[in-house]
Amino acid sequence: MAEQAFRFPGGMDAAAFLAGYWQRRALFCAQAFDAAAWRIEPEDLLSVAMEDGVSARLVSRQGDAFTLESGPFAEERLDRLPARCWSVLVQAMEVWEPRYHGLIALFGFLPRWRIDDIMISLAGDGGGVGPHVDQYDVFLFQVAGRRRWSFGGPRHPLVEGAPLRLLSRFEPEEVVVAEPGDVLYLPPGLPHDGVALGDGCITVSIGFRAPGLVDLADRLAEAAAARWQEEVEAEPRFGDAGRALPADPWELPASDIARARAVLQAALDDDSLVARLLGEQVTMPRLPPPPAEDAVAPETVLARLAAGERMERWSGSRLAHHVLSQEAALLFVDGDALAATPALAAWLARRDAVAADDLADCPDRAEAAELLAELVNRGAFGFLR
Ligand code: SIN
Ligand code: CO
Repeated sequence: MAEQAFRFPGGMDAAAFLAGYWQRRALFCAQAFDAAAWRIEPEDLLSVAMEDGVSARLVSRQGDAFTLESGPFAEERLDRLPARCWSVLVQAMEVWEPRYHGLIALFGFLPRWRIDDIMISLAGDGGGVGPHVDQYDVFLFQVAGRRRWSFGGPRHPLVEGAPLRLLSRFEPEEVVVAEPGDVLYLPPGLPHDGVALGDGCITVSIGFRAPGLVDLADRLAEAAAARWQEEVEAEPRFGDAGRALPADPWELPASDIARARAVLQAALDDDSLVARLLGEQVTMPRLPPPPAEDAVAPETVLARLAAGERMERWSGSRLAHHVLSQEAALLFVDGDALAATPALAAWLARRDAVAADDLADCPDRAEAAELLAELVNRGAFGFLR
């Protein structure tokens, strides 16, 4: 499959897109990609929607009323879809169809960790999920059929008590019809609605991750516990040396709130702690790797590679790296942080596969063997014969 770059409209380059549109404004990109290269047969998408562990939805519309069913679906359910106004949406398609990692690779103008997953929807005429807002950036790539996108306008409240998070009113400012190859970029929080024009409408959504405070705070608690459980004496703690006599001993005064904030701030000012919690959070896999069969030792990894076996990354595993100092880095793997040298962490994080030849440019073979064994034992990589 030919490698193809994202084609921004009107001679715009990726830097101009990031400066003017990313997180800010919608952008319609006519013929941004070659649709034929990324097509999927409807029956292949529907068969993924039947797999155990899949995250899939079936949304049907009768007039203004939407119903939501969650997968995995039985074959009999997908055999009796209504004639019109239905849509099947499947998340994390890059895990089920690893060729979609090739599409993710075309978004190299954004950090890899920001990309969440590839969702693919298949809709019959009139199908869609209704007017809504998403919390995340998304590139909506039409690969087959046509879809009318309406977007923009005020962000009205949600319909109360509905199974889908639909907007109670929708007053779009723009309408475009996406043909195969067209991409609509939408920033977070922008109202939108996509309706299939005709049957066989397939839209590939490249969705992004942006961790919220709740997730980061959860991770902070975990990371802080891991850091200070062995070293309780060093744990930052509330302190109030030199305090004034209390006016009311039952009061929790503002000065104590400030002291508590200083404890939290000490953690937030610790770059390596924040790096750890961010890296762990954003490498959480949508589908965790299947457990490894037998534990392997580092020397076994080297021997198997030398014998011509190849290691491949599990299609759902997520890796990233962060440099802490000249000597130390963190390699994040599926929600955990492993210690590595900076060169090795960078070398491993980008790897889809490892064969004997790849070790030629590997920074430190002995340390690499240790980490590769760890990755195999976690299921993040596996051997192929
Ligand atoms: C779709 O129906 O494929 C896209 C759903 C969305 O607007 O997020
Ligand atoms: Co949306």
